[in-house]
Amino acid sequence: MGTFATGVTIITVDLDGEVHGMTANAFASVSLDPLLVLVCVDRTARTHTHLQTKKRFGINVLCHDQRGISEYYARPERSDSNAEREAGARFDRTVHGTPVLHGALAYLECRLQSAWEAGDHTVFIAEVEDVLVREGDPLIFFRGKYWRIGEAIR
Ligand SMILES: Cc1cc2nc3c(=O)[nH]c(=O)nc-3n(C[C@H](O)[C@H](O)[C@H](O)COP(=O)(O)O)c2cc1C
Repeated sequence: MGTFATGVTIITVDLDGEVHGMTANAFASVSLDPLLVLVCVDRTARTHTHLQTKKRFGINVLCHDQRGISEYYARPERSDSNAEREAGARFDRTVHGTPVLHGALAYLECRLQSAWEAGDHTVFIAEVEDVLVREGDPLIFFRGKYWRIGEAIR
């Protein structure tokens, strides 16, 4: 799977005013009508419990300059309350209270539609209720390293 280059996202959940985030690249488009996406989450991750309980979350597609935020939200021992001080992660809120990461390339407001157990992960399928997009280059994950996108092939 390391040879399959992906973008990097942060899944965000509101926990009674606190932002819980998790780095995820097992993210894909599922359906256009209705607009559905999926994310695969390890059954031992805290985020797994939060998605099942809250049933609403954000997916933030990282910009090339947000590598530190990706690394931060992949560290198991991190504290949600130190994200701004340690990684520069700042958030706005949607009308639903879901955290939107500043500086991300895209934000998807997701409502859980179904969850499918698959080995040690669960495939969460969500309906996308709202989308924000801005200009910029993505952060790429390839062969276990972070990259910035190269030139378009004509
Ligand atoms: C680039 C990258 C992509 C990742 N993608 C996923 C993923 O798609 N699903 C997953 O369960 N964990 C993924 N992880 C690992 C989680 O980010 C990590 O286990 C995290 O600490 C879990 O946090 P939580 O226990 O607070 O939910 C990824 C880590 C990195 C560095």
